[in-house]
Amino acid sequence: MKNEIIKRSVVRYINSENREIKFNNGKGCYVYTDHGQKYSDFVLGYGPVVLGHSNEQFNERILTLLPEGIHFPGFSVHHDAYLKALFHNMKVTDDLLTIFMKTSSESNTGAMRIAAEATKRKGVIRCGFTGWHDAQYASSVPWHFPPAFRNTVRNIGNMRGISNEEEVFNWDTLQTTQLEELLKLKSHQISSLIFDSYQLSFITEDDLRQAICLCRKYDILIILDETKSAGRVGPLGCLGQETELWDMLVTGKAIANGAPLSLLIVKEHLREATIKAQVGGTHSKEVMSIYCALTTLEIMNESNGYATLRTIGERTSTIFNEIVHECGLNELIKMSPILGGALVDITLADRLYNNPQTLKLLQTFFLDNSILLLVGHPSFISLAHSGMDWNEWRSQIFKSLAKWKKVL
Ligand SMILES: Cc1ncc(COP(=O)(O)O)c(C=O)c1O
Repeated sequence: MKNEIIKRSVVRYINSENREIKFNNGKGCYVYTDHGQKYSDFVLGYGPVVLGHSNEQFNERILTLLPEGIHFPGFSVHHDAYLKALFHNMKVTDDLLTIFMKTSSESNTGAMRIAAEATKRKGVIRCGFTGWHDAQYASSVPWHFPPAFRNTVRNIGNMRGISNEEEVFNWDTLQTTQLEELLKLKSHQISSLIFDSYQLSFITEDDLRQAICLCRKYDILIILDETKSAGRVGPLGCLGQETELWDMLVTGKAIANGAPLSLLIVKEHLREATIKAQVGGTHSKEVMSIYCALTTLEIMNESNGYATLRTIGERTSTIFNEIVHECGLNELIKMSPILGGALVDITLADRLYNNPQTLKLLQTFFLDNSILLLVGHPSFISLAHSGMDWNEWRSQIFKSLAKWKKVL
């Protein structure tokens, strides 16, 4: 019997010998394959593993909570304790309603449904990658490339909810004029702007504030998607604690150090629409991820974790760029700490964005040299990277870039 996991290409790691890398275990900033080969991990499950793999403090605390049970008939005191810790910590004073989800795709779908219920409009303006559900994914652009290189429309056809009065518009140039034109023409159809905070690595906070003001003039609700940044840049991401900026806030990825959890946080003025929208499911009330989220939040606070991530992100980028310089590739490639440094992004010369094969090869050469680092998508830092063997990493980056230089 053939028994195969269907994997999207982004989570298949194939080396230059066409062999798929399969993971067996992780410790700190390293993951190990079924053959015991060690990789420096800057993918971290695409962001969630913020403390590092198998963090001892985390393991110990979770093990004391597990005997309490992991799923009750309804919500538990642990859910309350987590929200209290999260909001107390951030000194948030607004009245907020929280929906517990497993993934941010669900949270964003829920947010769009609530927005449609509240405004009686079904259209959405989308800015960034916000998940794999139809309205988030269909007719989308390469959101992790700089705006000038978002010229291919992908995922066309076979997806629902993206036509006629349910249109989804891409605010892909990040320019106010594009947004303004869209609002002038279509605001009667549009319920919300959904904004991935990663896009703040291409525009300033002031630009975003201006865009939000513009949307508000047309009664468009703001869904701030802090999935990549919550639990990493700060407990509620980059701007989540600035409650005046959003109507709904989405967190996910790093908040539970790898356990599946996403929060959809809704302002009180949307209570009625939220209840009507009936968002939530069986696993919304599951508790194991809550133990993980509470423990992660405690460890991040106790260890000054957010500041530590920033320092490591800066260091990672500085060393990477020193090697770029040594290889004579300054004109072609650079690593930058983004959103303060809890993430890093490789940026490339313009001509390379039009050559996806070259980007893919670079990621493959990193893999061949035991590094999991993303190209065409930001990479992630964990607290455990403070204990990385930087000399080993230098030599691995050098070998990868030297090989890449030969194929350019
Ligand atoms: C900003 C943003 N929103 C939503 C999602 C979807 O999250 P999930 O994979 O948990 O559904 C992602 C995933 O990468 C994301 O980066």
